[in-house]
Amino acid sequence: MKKRVFSGIQPTGIIHIGNYLGAIKRWVDLIEEYDCIYSIVDYHAITVSYDPKELPIRIIESAKILMAAGVDPDRVILFVQSSVSEHTELEWILNTITPVGDLERMTQYKDKRQQNVENINTGLLTYPVLMASDILLYKAEVIPVGEDQKQHLELTREIVRKFNRRFGNTFPEPQTLLGVAPRIKGLDGNAKMSKSLNNYIALIEEKEDIWNKLRIAVTDPARKRRNDPGNPEVCNIYSLHKYFSSEEEIEKVNKGCRNAEIGCVECKKILAENMDRVIAPIREKKKSFDGKENLVREILYSGAEQARKIAVQTMEEVREKIGVKF
Ligand code: AMP
Ligand code: TRP
Repeated sequence: MKKRVFSGIQPTGIIHIGNYLGAIKRWVDLIEEYDCIYSIVDYHAITVSYDPKELPIRIIESAKILMAAGVDPDRVILFVQSSVSEHTELEWILNTITPVGDLERMTQYKDKRQQNVENINTGLLTYPVLMASDILLYKAEVIPVGEDQKQHLELTREIVRKFNRRFGNTFPEPQTLLGVAPRIKGLDGNAKMSKSLNNYIALIEEKEDIWNKLRIAVTDPARKRRNDPGNPEVCNIYSLHKYFSSEEEIEKVNKGCRNAEIGCVECKKILAENMDRVIAPIREKKKSFDGKENLVREILYSGAEQARKIAVQTMEEVREKIGVKF
């Protein structure tokens, strides 16, 4: 029996290179050896302000990009969270064993509270419990995510221990598997790359836009003029080279920056070329799904059907264990 993998991504409609290097690339690499279930988590996305007319479009766009990046629905279960109502059902039950204090301690909750002062809803607080439900419904053991989700997965493990102690052994403790680049910084060179901060390069960015965005991206702030030597260690462009460029090129820009032989513009041009080499096939594959929204919908419905079969079984077991089956 293959071990089961579960992960999710919110339907923002864009997937950036931070998502890709932090998580999605791992999702794809794991397909060979594991039984993988991947979800577009729309119920997580509605915890912040959003446009109900836009959301369905974003869900479909996210699915297209995931498939273009290698999440092959013939080999994994790919579905939309809200299509399987057991997610919210299990969440209610897990809510009753999760201390409020544990949720209030979550870094992401504390950040979001500050960013959404006009909308601090209960869903923001219980967000990690819904995540735990996503994972436990499928008894998943391996969870590929970026670093920002680590704390949520620790809480999931605590919920598992508590449930198993109280109601008998039911769920395995899931392990966190970080991506190749667990925390990619945005083009401002400071904050985490994210859609909301608009500091990202999309996984399907057009070639000229890759360049337009990199052109104005922050480098070593101490390197003010072309002839100043730079310090690659503090330069975000250099850290991106590590994921897109060859060993020789990384060495070349490292040395060239330190002795001012290579300027930031040239360094960025090399990166833009290499980035486009990775992005171009994904961008083209994504375009091949445009206009085929009905096909994408069918794929997601079929994924939901497969997911539901597993979810229903887990809920049967859970209901019996917690004593609501009579
Ligand atoms: P989200 O878009 O918040 O649903 O995130 C989807 C996945 O991408 C999660 O596993 C995140 O941990 C990961 N992720 C998001 N932003 C970054 C980033 N800047 N660097 C690395 N991983 C990220
Ligand atoms: N909260 C995650 C994020 O924003 C997405 C997610 C939802 C998830 N449910 C999950 C990730 C279950 C892993 C496992 O990135």
